[in-house]
Amino acid sequence: MQAFVLRNGDVEVEAITYGAIITRVLAPDRRGEPGDVVLGFDTLDEYLEHSPYFGAVVGRYANRIAHGRFALDGVTYQLACNDGANHLHGGVRGFDKVLWTATPLSDDAMPGVTFLYDSADGDEGYPGTLSARVTYRLSGDGALHVRYHATTDRATIVNLTQHSYFNLAAGEGNVLGHQVVVNASRFTPVDAGLIPTGELRLVEGTPFDFRTPAALGARIDEPDGQLETAGGYDHNFVLDSVGDRALVLAARVVEPMSGRTLELRTTEPGLQLYSGNFLDGSIIGKGGRRYAHRSGFCLETQHFPDSPNHPEFPSAVLRPDGQYESESVFVFGVT
Ligand code: GLA
Repeated sequence: MQAFVLRNGDVEVEAITYGAIITRVLAPDRRGEPGDVVLGFDTLDEYLEHSPYFGAVVGRYANRIAHGRFALDGVTYQLACNDGANHLHGGVRGFDKVLWTATPLSDDAMPGVTFLYDSADGDEGYPGTLSARVTYRLSGDGALHVRYHATTDRATIVNLTQHSYFNLAAGEGNVLGHQVVVNASRFTPVDAGLIPTGELRLVEGTPFDFRTPAALGARIDEPDGQLETAGGYDHNFVLDSVGDRALVLAARVVEPMSGRTLELRTTEPGLQLYSGNFLDGSIIGKGGRRYAHRSGFCLETQHFPDSPNHPEFPSAVLRPDGQYESESVFVFGVT
């Protein structure tokens, strides 16, 4: 296992070859005091033992595929089912649990590292040999650029994301006071297995309306069927930029006490907002800190969950003559 530290201005990011995991993001608060704003562990063993995807690159298919089954070009494929009856985050041994090879980039203005992983034909049930590449680069304005690339030798599906859990207070408490904006007028409601029903529901008049700033926790315990099903926010938002391949502002989060901000731009059509509902205080993380319920949130840029079974959703199919390309930029700042 190798670790790489990227430093630029007053932001520092550490990433390791296991799972291409981002293990640390040091960002200053409004007084200039640095704090680690991502959840994780101090040792590799803890990542190996029980990490709920802390900081990892998730693939081949981030999020869920119903019954782990899909058809492509008339052939039905069966993937590993590791989330009840469904496939989640690439299966039993997804990209978060493999060793990537790394090449540091020699650009002093924008330090970076590229991680490579070749996934064999049939890996976790997926067709095609997939060559995946993820590059992290840190620019002087506190922006972490994450660029994904993949090619295949047979038609397949691919959907890569970054599964960092953020806590901009860099503290012990929950993230319910973080002010959130998500540029989405619709989201994809889910069934009891957190599989999209296919509906694109308007957020207007629901606790899913983050088009103007709202505390993450302001409405999280309202009697809303979707919040109850998922135990909080664990939903895919249909970004208003859907269909646009440019880097567009998807979300902005402000932590009022520290003044830290996080802005996210992406080329992806969807964004999973996850409020750390499965964190229950049983995981002890960095520095002995106990990760309480909802003490971290994730912003997972993605194609919609279960797209292979929803022809009306943006396609996640990759063919040998094509290239999978995706980019997300996380900007750490203060207000
Ligand atoms: C994603 C999923 C959640 C959960 C977390 C990891 O955000 O949507 O349901 O699986 O990953 O615990």
